[in-house]
Amino acid sequence: MARVRVAALISGRGSNMAALIAAAATPAYPAEIALVLANVPGAGGLSVAAEHGIANETLDHRGFADRAAFDDALDARLRHHAIEFVCLAGFMRLLTAGFVEKWRNRLLNIHPSLLPAYPGLDTHKRALADGVRVAGCTVHFVRAKMDVGPIVAQAAVPVLQGDDEDALAARVLKAEHALYPHALRLVASGAATVEGEQVRFARALAAPPVLFNPPL
Ligand code: GRF
Repeated sequence: MARVRVAALISGRGSNMAALIAAAATPAYPAEIALVLANVPGAGGLSVAAEHGIANETLDHRGFADRAAFDDALDARLRHHAIEFVCLAGFMRLLTAGFVEKWRNRLLNIHPSLLPAYPGLDTHKRALADGVRVAGCTVHFVRAKMDVGPIVAQAAVPVLQGDDEDALAARVLKAEHALYPHALRLVASGAATVEGEQVRFARALAAPPVLFNPPL
């Protein structure tokens, strides 16, 4: 079976990108990471991609007059590499509505909260300030509005007494590294599709047990 050609877009260390690369190392995985593109020169994830022999490029947004010009150049690079699907993986830049529309339902993002709670930045700080007992992460299809779009998958982690932002972020990040490859597998294999702005699954998936925190 032909694997879906995926680009991972990054701005920094690229640990989610690395998790996708690791998952795609299995030949049976339905997607291959064919390109890693960073908008920040020297982004850590670029060297990780290079070590894996994956095409990697930098498109410095500071060299463009406006967002539309950057997004046009980005679109051109994706087409050059015959990319079929895009995963935002710590890509800290808003995309224009025009770009998002071109890649509609072929563009995923990972966000470190249980959306629609805590969109935007400082998610862990805000969750801790609110005293929530459960936090987590979300993989969703991208729409023009930030951190909004049909949800493919979510993972929940407990918030523990004494957690600070770093401790919670680390626990959520570990969940992200499992969640993103899982979500991309569902979408790339055709098991998850968008219908009427909701994600539908081709077959019933076994539901995990309820998470209680503190435990029962
Ligand atoms: C992750 O927490 C991701 O959810 C958020 O930015 C962070 C990127 O981390 N969008 P990394 O670059 O994947 O390590």
